Amino acid sequence: MYKIISKQVLNPTVTKMEIEAPLIAKKAQPGQFIILRTDENGERIPLTVADYDREKGTVTIIFQIVGATTNQLNSFNEGDYIHDFVGPLGKPTETEGLKKVAVVGGGVGCAIAFPIAKKLHEMGVEVHSVVGFRNKDLVILEDDFKNNSDVFKLMTDDGSYGEKGLVTNALEELIKEGNQYDEVITIGPLIMMKFVCQLTKKYDVKTIVSMNPIMIDGTGMCGGCRLTVGGETKFACVDGPDFDGHLVDFDEAMKRGQMYKEFERHAYEESCN
Ligand code: FES
Repeated sequence: MYKIISKQVLNPTVTKMEIEAPLIAKKAQPGQFIILRTDENGERIPLTVADYDREKGTVTIIFQIVGATTNQLNSFNEGDYIHDFVGPLGKPTETEGLKKVAVVGGGVGCAIAFPIAKKLHEMGVEVHSVVGFRNKDLVILEDDFKNNSDVFKLMTDDGSYGEKGLVTNALEELIKEGNQYDEVITIGPLIMMKFVCQLTKKYDVKTIVSMNPIMIDGTGMCGGCRLTVGGETKFACVDGPDFDGHLVDFDEAMKRGQMYKEFERHAYEESCN
């Protein structure tokens, strides 16, 4: 059992929790994830490690309330316990040799992008962060990004905060201004990552995406998280979650994601009753 040390509501649908998990905190790296179950019979959900404190022995997760399990998790409070908390899983984001990077996050994907921006910044890499949200109410981690970036751009779809537009508009502007990035790292909705990759392909900038498909066992055995990358089948849980974005078949990944939506909606409605 894993104790919830703190809970913070970041926006109406996104919550941050700090969990006591010393063994995971000892080894976790940005880009890796954990799989949790709220109770014995619960669904397994993968969540990226948003932060860790090796001394305190805690791991921070940030999740969006999108279904039955995340709704139940959100009903927990400080002092409550999570049944299973397994990790760290997946490969850490590769940061070796990078000098200038654009980190592009969308919505709750910013929770995954932030620890990467922070690590790069701490390593002395020049970090340009571009984050995007649908509107002002959904903005998260603004100060965290600001404090760990050399350039920071916040975009909203409706212009209610920051600049009006998409992350791709801001990224293209930065590239056109002459910024030459060793790499773009992008994390967010599949459709956003797809368009970021289309843009960076045009400018020939290497792009890493973090894929977060449905996961069940997290060990490469069930096939639930399979993706096509460069024409080959890959498993996000063991081969990723980071992949070369120019090789990912996003259309297939979006189709697979859709398959579970209806089921998830029913489960969510039942959990709310
Ligand atoms: Fe089962 Fe990846 S979650 S193979």
